[in-house]
Amino acid sequence: MKDRHRVLFSPLNIGGRILRNRLVAPPMVQLRPITSPAGLKWYSDLAGGTGLVIVEATGVPLFGDTLSVQKLARLAEAIHGQGALAAVQLFPLAHLKEPAAPDSLSAADIILILEQFAHAAKICRDAGFDGVEPHGAHGFLINQFFMPGKNHRTDGYGGSPDARGRFAVEICRSIKQAVSDDLLLLYRHTPTGDDYSIDDSLAFAHSLADAGIDILDVSPARGRVAAELAAPFKKTLPVPVIAVGGMEDPDAASEALAERRCDMAALGRALIADPLWPEKVRDERIDEIFQCVKCNGCFEYLHAGEQVSCAQR
Ligand SMILES: Cc1cc2nc3c(=O)[nH]c(=O)nc-3n(C[C@H](O)[C@H](O)[C@H](O)COP(=O)(O)O)c2cc1C
Repeated sequence: MKDRHRVLFSPLNIGGRILRNRLVAPPMVQLRPITSPAGLKWYSDLAGGTGLVIVEATGVPLFGDTLSVQKLARLAEAIHGQGALAAVQLFPLAHLKEPAAPDSLSAADIILILEQFAHAAKICRDAGFDGVEPHGAHGFLINQFFMPGKNHRTDGYGGSPDARGRFAVEICRSIKQAVSDDLLLLYRHTPTGDDYSIDDSLAFAHSLADAGIDILDVSPARGRVAAELAAPFKKTLPVPVIAVGGMEDPDAASEALAERRCDMAALGRALIADPLWPEKVRDERIDEIFQCVKCNGCFEYLHAGEQVSCAQR
């Protein structure tokens, strides 16, 4: 291994759970049922060289019935069997495309969602996972609560920045109350949007830390430099920070870690193109990496409703 890449492979202890290295497979919907044989194979491939795998956005209403403890335990085992920690990204609705907006949720809807997060987290714990991650990013429902342009509520969940962050904070508290420290609590946030600034996000991230998150997963909008946007969070937050988005250059990712702009680097499309990226970097076989050319063919499969894979392979 090259000395400058050594930092990518240093272990990290978070709340007594050890990531064997700093490489994370971020949540990526891939349209194979996650507990089917094809889904287990997909996730065991992603786990081969990473320290942490975050299973794709999964609707909290599905836990218990469609996704039983028994089925999910096989997924946790498939990931653990390869040596990575396993977390699940939790989505507030059954499906990503379900229409819902901050303004249309009643107080009872909010309470139900908070209960569903708590229930989903308990199922994940019982199935043997190491963590859960509310999906608070990318302009989906939880992120919309944070956006003044999308959230016009007047009931304590809208208005001031604190109020716009309240839904997310309550989700975190609800999970924490349900599973205490049995699971790591991650949170994925998009650090800047059309109508909120990085300073708004920094204050929000501090309230998430107060609510007990163990890891902040900083996921900028497409085209922004992840490690740079993660740095202000890394600088002031008391919890480790994942940077995701364009982190696939081993030298640049190593530099971001060495310069303490983030604690972990997540590789999305790069791992779809080549799940062996981590071991090829570790073994100095960088020229053997099947490089992601950012054609976004994987996204196109997703949008067409087809199983995700690398369009170049
Ligand atoms: C096919 C596909 C599915 C994705 N699904 C999710 C998802 O379920 N949840 C999420 O937060 N981000 C999702 N993302 C975004 C990735 O987690 C990641 O943030 C993004 O790909 C940028 O990282 P990269 O430049 O390393 O690919 C998805 C990305 C791809 C390519």
